[in-house]
Amino acid sequence: MQNPIILAIESSCDDTSAAVLRGDRLLSNVIASQKVHEQYGGVVPELASRAHQQNIVPVVDGALKNAGVERGDVDAVAFTRGPGLMGSLMVGVSFAKGYAQGLGVPLLEVNHLQAHVLSHFIRESDDAVVPEFPLVCLLVSGGHTQILLLRSHFDMEVLGQTIDDAAGEAMDKAAKIMDLGYPGGPVIDRLAQEGDPQAFHFATPHIAGNDYSFSGIKTSFLYFLRDRLVEEPDFVERHKADLCASVQECIVGFLVKKLEKAVKESGVKQVAIAGGVSANSLLRRRVEEMGRRRHWKVFVPPMRFCTDNAAMVGIAGYFKYLRGEYADISLPPYAKKEG
Ligand code: KG4
Ligand code: ZN
Repeated sequence: MQNPIILAIESSCDDTSAAVLRGDRLLSNVIASQKVHEQYGGVVPELASRAHQQNIVPVVDGALKNAGVERGDVDAVAFTRGPGLMGSLMVGVSFAKGYAQGLGVPLLEVNHLQAHVLSHFIRESDDAVVPEFPLVCLLVSGGHTQILLLRSHFDMEVLGQTIDDAAGEAMDKAAKIMDLGYPGGPVIDRLAQEGDPQAFHFATPHIAGNDYSFSGIKTSFLYFLRDRLVEEPDFVERHKADLCASVQECIVGFLVKKLEKAVKESGVKQVAIAGGVSANSLLRRRVEEMGRRRHWKVFVPPMRFCTDNAAMVGIAGYFKYLRGEYADISLPPYAKKEG
């Protein structure tokens, strides 16, 4: 079938999402974000799985309704198999299996990280421009930071990656140190708009090749503040915007510097960014600037496809459908890497 109707489900962390695609065209994408974690300053896995259990039926019904598609029209069900929180994944995986089994249609298993990268191939209109291969993609999320070379949809070579924390994790931890709430990335982005990125200097580590390291930035930020707070207890309050702008400058500057080096070495002329941190306004701007300077074609995802969503799971599932790669109903979710 050329243009199958695919129902996609994403439940790897704290967003319950369902999407419907016809071929590579997105018909609907519904996301229920879980507010329950805010008061704890991070995602509480047990609460996440319970909320997924409550959200999943209305979210799927909403996606079908918004797409104008009947349950019986669905030709395949795609789901995120991993990586993610085990209890959260189990809700989406079990739901997808039951749904596909009930309809008698194939299952498509999707890797969450591949889905983030493949979000660039979602078409929302007939004249949508999608990347060609080869393509270098910087994948930056709460749990991962990798520079990937794509030769085809599923041929992804890792050119470089973080040796410790992810970029999103560094943003979240910096925000936590300043008591700005969770997730911290969007808060830092917002407060940084009013701040001076040169107000404070945080050193970036010297890491060989195309790899990253973010745990040192977090530590130097922590020590810097600890020393200042002894003298001035209201230091964070008074310099919040400058602190956010400076730490963001440090993290984004490091991300782009290594990305530019890796792309240059690869000789590839198309560059993309993906994952939650690709929503960061400074990163988006810097990557666009890099593209103009180097004459590379740059792909920055629309905001709605940066953080977790089922549309990206649907497009990855579609490419698997085309290859006839159906998943067995016995497949378990995986929390860490592909298993
Ligand atoms: O891809 P994602 O939604 O979930 C994972 O797969 O991890 O990424 C979440 C991460 C969090 O660390 C969050 O702080 C970060 O993306 N993030 C941002 C922004 N929006 C989300 N970081 C910086 N600036 C933003 N605007
Ligand atoms: Zn993600």
